[in-house]
Amino acid sequence: MQPAAAGLVPIGLAVWNGEANQRDGDKFLSAWHFLHFEHGRVDPRYVNGLLWSPRIKGDPEAGKALMRERGCAACHSYPGNPIPTEAGPGLTWAGGIHRPDYLLESIKNPSTVIVPGKTFSTVTNGTRVSVMPAIKIPERELFHVVEYLRTLR
Ligand code: HEC
Repeated sequence: MQPAAAGLVPIGLAVWNGEANQRDGDKFLSAWHFLHFEHGRVDPRYVNGLLWSPRIKGDPEAGKALMRERGCAACHSYPGNPIPTEAGPGLTWAGGIHRPDYLLESIKNPSTVIVPGKTFSTVTNGTRVSVMPAIKIPERELFHVVEYLRTLR
């Protein structure tokens, strides 16, 4: 076997419980884990993305309140949100599945990465754009929200 060219390889596991009739997308997903290959090369930029050392230290409790105040709760389901909605992807496991820098980017520039889903985006002049509005919130609040989303796992 050739040693992996990449020194750090993310893996996620999917588990289907047949007894509960789980199939296709109905399954459990693990958080990300990493395989470290000693002889592979590790890109420092990749490691920096994984090691979250934000310029501003966010407060998860403040972030939770902002999810309501800033309208996120109208489109995203997550524990403690009483509004039943499927306008955007569920965020119940967002902290386990996504890297913090991805979460930050998703809020600042929703169309950079668009989650697949029939109702999640539209095509305008040949360009696919997210239906999530680029919500202008003070930078400090952005870090509060990301810190809250990180607790969802
Ligand atoms: C009008 C509905 C709407 C509002 C309001 C909204 N979103 Fe979204 N959001 C979406 C949709 C639709 C997507 C999927 C398309 C995309 O990737 O942008 C999305 C994607 C996301 C993602 C990426 C999820 C993933 O699984 O990759 C995050 C994180 C997110 N939103 C957080 C927020 C936060 C935080 C707020 C409030 C500041 C917010 N959203 C407000 C509709 C909305």
